[in-house]
Amino acid sequence: MKVSVKVPATSANMGPGFDCLGLALPIYNTITIEETVLPGTGIEINLMSEEDAIDEMSFDNIPRDENNIVYKAVEMLYNSIGQEPSELKINIQAQIPITRGLGSSAAVVVGGLLAANKLLGSPADETALLSIATEVEGHPDNVAPAILGGFVMASQEDDGSVIYRKLNWPEEWDITVCIPDFELSTNIARSVLPEQVPMQDAIFNAKHLSMLVHAIDTKDEKLMRVALQDKLHQPYREKLVPGMKEIMEAFRHEDGVLGCVLSGAGPSMLVISYKYDLDKIKSTVRDIWEGQSIKADIKTMKIEPKGAEILE
Ligand code: HSE
Repeated sequence: MKVSVKVPATSANMGPGFDCLGLALPIYNTITIEETVLPGTGIEINLMSEEDAIDEMSFDNIPRDENNIVYKAVEMLYNSIGQEPSELKINIQAQIPITRGLGSSAAVVVGGLLAANKLLGSPADETALLSIATEVEGHPDNVAPAILGGFVMASQEDDGSVIYRKLNWPEEWDITVCIPDFELSTNIARSVLPEQVPMQDAIFNAKHLSMLVHAIDTKDEKLMRVALQDKLHQPYREKLVPGMKEIMEAFRHEDGVLGCVLSGAGPSMLVISYKYDLDKIKSTVRDIWEGQSIKADIKTMKIEPKGAEILE
């Protein structure tokens, strides 16, 4: 038997929502798991990339054995029902660029889990799958929108359970996704964050995150322009993302631009706008990065509403 799951890219954090907010985007990975009948064949992991999603070096660095993140997630699911995975063939068809802050690892973890769950006769419900995916990823802000679609707030509680709610993103707010041609691993982007932060910075984020949730809920552009600010991760990551400071500065005083944030751990960036010239956004970002010899793929996208889908 064989099951395929199509999973969207995700952008986590959204400025002040570090490790708890994320949205799904219409770029997809498809993960197929097949139980092979020949005993003793072990696991086989194949990666296929579409377009320029994965460059050769990164491709070579992805483990193809039990250390692969998809295999780890699948193993946790089997173990949770007292079984061990045996002969499995895992195919990953990748469209989501890797190490760009667009949730490529969350997508393969979610795809692997949903496919394996279906193969096992669906023993785990959505909440249980979300807990395992969060355990593997370390934070729920990519895996939650990857499973559910839309714009999601999620929190992993001390007992391991994940609480999540979907928020309605205003249709008329445009999201321009700016993907530079250089990589930044989440591990490196997390290693520059301090163990502790000043109380004033924690309060700053609590204020802005609550504004952000209200602004989205009430489609309040004026509030959103204030809300999309962060002091917990972006200032520390600025040094790892050439052009980030200049891009943010370029839009700071443009009324139609509601904000500009790092996508996940970076280096991609999102520009959120309302009734603003989208070509101007694209050329501004492109010019700044080109000035630093960085090429970029820049597209305005709608949020992906549905999330992971099991293909029949
Ligand atoms: N919230 C995580 C981070 C997302 O910013 O490190 C990484 O994918």
